[in-house]
Amino acid sequence: MRMVGVFKNLPILAKQINTGNTRKDGNMRMKLAATAAIALSAMPMAASADGEVNIYSYRQAYLLEPLLNAFEQETGIQSNVVFAKQGLAERLEREGRNSPADLVMTVDISRLNELVERDLVQNVDNETLEENIPENLRHPEGKWFALTARGRLIFVSKDRVEEGEITTYEQLADDKWNNRICTRSGKHPYNIALFSSMIAHHGEAETEKWLEGLKDNLARKPQGGDRDQIKAIAEGVCDVSIGNSYYYGNMLQDENQRPIAEQVRLVFPNAEGRGTHVNISGISLTKSAPNRENAIKLMEFLSSPKAQRIYAEANTEYPANPEVKPSGLVAEWGEINPDNLSLQEIADNRNAAVKLVDRVDYDGE
Ligand SMILES: [Fe+2]
Repeated sequence: MRMVGVFKNLPILAKQINTGNTRKDGNMRMKLAATAAIALSAMPMAASADGEVNIYSYRQAYLLEPLLNAFEQETGIQSNVVFAKQGLAERLEREGRNSPADLVMTVDISRLNELVERDLVQNVDNETLEENIPENLRHPEGKWFALTARGRLIFVSKDRVEEGEITTYEQLADDKWNNRICTRSGKHPYNIALFSSMIAHHGEAETEKWLEGLKDNLARKPQGGDRDQIKAIAEGVCDVSIGNSYYYGNMLQDENQRPIAEQVRLVFPNAEGRGTHVNISGISLTKSAPNRENAIKLMEFLSSPKAQRIYAEANTEYPANPEVKPSGLVAEWGEINPDNLSLQEIADNRNAAVKLVDRVDYDGE
């Protein structure tokens, strides 16, 4: 894998650089930081080159590196990656037909849907992908394919919350949790997707009431990321939080964070009913795709059992390919019963959810 750039916010004039081959080691983040600092002294990504494929990625380097290296080993095709935290859709739009990007890798259905709505991606009609990725985890015309899934779970204090005391998202609005819940911003895509699913199940009016109830139960103003809410439980700030499954997994695998994560118990909300809200990470083929054939080969590879195993292990996520079992740690948590509401429906309710968050002033601004 060749990293050709990493930008926090993609500067318009920034070009990409070649950092050379990076090895899988703990210095990756440092190398990334160094790359960002010198991102202006650049070497452009070639639009079309034999044996190469170009990726714009919102996913982090340490997740992609083992996958792309395995792909290169198997096929001889080299991947060039531009990493960014935001702005990739804008960049694709700006570059139009001349964009060197073949693929976009991202998290969250809202981002995948944005690519479709801006008409930046093309249909992929491919038997291997259709076999590997279940229908509910891909766009009906192949405009995106999920590669991993994550549950949005409830975490509770082992000490202060009894087993079975909370089992659904709906209960987060119950008075008994007054002053006992912590979450990140209501505007974050992960929460927006959860709230969108609530709208799909209960309608807007009922979801508004629920969201008001949840807001009233917050122990503090929404802040930080999902991991910070687990920390807040460990510190006694609150007793209940909402978070994505892999954050908990990653904390358990980190020597320093493990004692914090061990203070909480995970709950698969609505497991007995409609199932737990899940979101995805996924991949799309761009409209421009100068290396279309190589790109589709990479998509096929990423959906294969071999790559799915690597991917799911790297971030304690659920493989999208049902043939591949979750990692040992994830399996220990018990089976997830995913809400099979279509991801498209979640994407369709996004704007309504954003409005609700504003209307109830969830973040207390
Ligand atoms: Fe995340």
